[in-house]
Amino acid sequence: MAGVSGCVKYSMFIFNFLFWLCGISILAVAIWIRVSKDGQEILSSEDSSSKPYIAVNILIAVGATIMILSFLGYCGAIKESRCMLFLFFIGLFLILLLQVAAGILGAAFRSESENILNETLYKNIELLSGTDSNAKAFQKALTEFQEQFKCCGLVNGPSDWGNNFQSHSKSCKCPDTSDSSCIQYEGNYVYKEPCISFIKNLVKTHILITIGIAFGLAFIEILGLIFSMVLFCQIGSK
Ligand SMILES: *[C@@H]1O[C@H](CO)[C@@H](O)[C@H](O)[C@H]1NC(C)=O
Repeated sequence: MAGVSGCVKYSMFIFNFLFWLCGISILAVAIWIRVSKDGQEILSSEDSSSKPYIAVNILIAVGATIMILSFLGYCGAIKESRCMLFLFFIGLFLILLLQVAAGILGAAFRSESENILNETLYKNIELLSGTDSNAKAFQKALTEFQEQFKCCGLVNGPSDWGNNFQSHSKSCKCPDTSDSSCIQYEGNYVYKEPCISFIKNLVKTHILITIGIAFGLAFIEILGLIFSMVLFCQIGSK
């Protein structure tokens, strides 16, 4: 036992416990998003309705991989198995590499994805005056959004609703008729501001949170790489 420091071993235990917690949280959040459909309709029109699921499926895979890896690292440390520690190191390294690649791709296509979001929102104006089930789902989602963020319509204001305005005017209505952020429209007093800037801000906030989590995770991963490497070498020199 002389070659293996208890400190590194316990660091590995603690690290893998934290890592396992990360994995299970990611998995839980991903499954929660997959199951609840709230807000997804806002960003998905006919042709892109499957796209949010791709991101969520990737999250589920990442969460599951992290859980398996943390188990491998834990067992490797307990049994002082170089083979397991080696697999753990390689797996963790690959994840870190993928994360860096995703970050670079994301940074490179940032303006493009902003344009896609903008175009999607402009395209979805048509859904507000539509009557099919796809349009209805989008209308329901926007209605909730309007109520929450005190906005009306998607891009141009209440007129985006077209013939559907009267049946959805309730969520646009201003409670206070003297409010300067409200206008008169088809006999109703409604919020002047369209929802597009709120939706864009919401997406931006989500992206910033994702970036923060990715950096935190990368830091933890680098610690794991160092611990497993040190333990691997200590076992070898025993
Ligand atoms: C969003 O798209 C619309 C229509 O495609 C375009 O007129 C508008 O300039 C775009 N806005 C931004 C901020 O890119």
